[in-house]
Amino acid sequence: MDRTPVWFMRQAGRYLPEYRELRGNREILDACRTPDLAVEITLQPLRRMPLDAAIVFSDIMVPLAAVGIDVRVQPGTGPMIDDPIRDVAGVARLRGLEPESDEPYLLETIRLLRKELDVPLIGFSGAPFTLASYLVEGGPSRDHARTKALMHGEPQTWAALMGALAAIVRSHLRAQIEAGADAVQVFDSWVGALDPVDYERSILPWMRSIFETIEVPAIHFGVGTGELLALMRRAGGDVIGVDWRTPLDTAWERVGSDAAVQGNLDPAIVTASWDAIEPKARDVLARAGGRDGHVFNLGHGVLPQTPVEHLQRLVELVHRETERPTS
Ligand code: CP3
Repeated sequence: MDRTPVWFMRQAGRYLPEYRELRGNREILDACRTPDLAVEITLQPLRRMPLDAAIVFSDIMVPLAAVGIDVRVQPGTGPMIDDPIRDVAGVARLRGLEPESDEPYLLETIRLLRKELDVPLIGFSGAPFTLASYLVEGGPSRDHARTKALMHGEPQTWAALMGALAAIVRSHLRAQIEAGADAVQVFDSWVGALDPVDYERSILPWMRSIFETIEVPAIHFGVGTGELLALMRRAGGDVIGVDWRTPLDTAWERVGSDAAVQGNLDPAIVTASWDAIEPKARDVLARAGGRDGHVFNLGHGVLPQTPVEHLQRLVELVHRETERPTS
């Protein structure tokens, strides 16, 4: 029997008491650099529910820290960079990534996981725009004003920044695939801040340069990207990840029937009662219409206050409702 696969962005994380216990006060980036710990954290959600994929426990800031950028991930806030990149000299500080020597712990984590797992393992990277937004702003941002000012005011510096980040992302993904990742997801979480004209000119070519080099199934995800979905598909990715703001059937029309789609239940709804969650989950399934090529997920990461039981019931619902004879 076939059934719609289901996994959750941030399925390893603070909503699990055993995660909080194991992390303790350790910095997230330190946990990512400790293979035994990262392996255990990756496996925790799979012991709780029959998920159809694991995602390696790491962070989008790992490869930037690995090339010497001074970054901290502040609990409750996100990544902070004391010395932001805002000019040509700043871009010159971004050297190339040599995964085997710069981030051996990540590759070791993936090799160890590959031996433990009987479901596909997803490796991942942040996308150049999303990484750039942290590097240029110096931390999380609502309007991404400095990032957009650089993109529009100094297009040559922007191109150099995108080029350097795209090279880091390509090395980072290739190394994870060589170490045993079966698929990869590229998180362009904040690219929905751009309009389609700017996306096509200032982002799409770099995204294409990344997806062109990937030879395993690739998921291309962003938040608030309803108006960008067709362009994201053109940029690359076998599966386009969508948030809850675009109904799944509309999203699928925009990316085209030759692509798969991933999503898109609102993670906030999963904190409500099961009676409220179930019809919304069924609506996502109905919009997918039982077609092949739907990967059930949330529209963004699991929120820390989410009851574990709600995710367990979601996995069960998706599996039960989508069982169909192998085509
Ligand atoms: O289970 C998984 O999904 C794998 C682990 C994972 C983490 N970060 C671990 C983590 C993944 C896929 C990421 C990606 C990531 N990191 C993104 C892209 C995905 C997205 O959410 O859009 C971004 C933007 C980051 C940067 C980042 N790291 C943020 C914004 C935060 C949250 C800060 C906070 O405290 O609210 C982090 C920290 C982080 N990375 C956590 C986890 C599980 C949560 C904090 C913690 O456990 O201390």
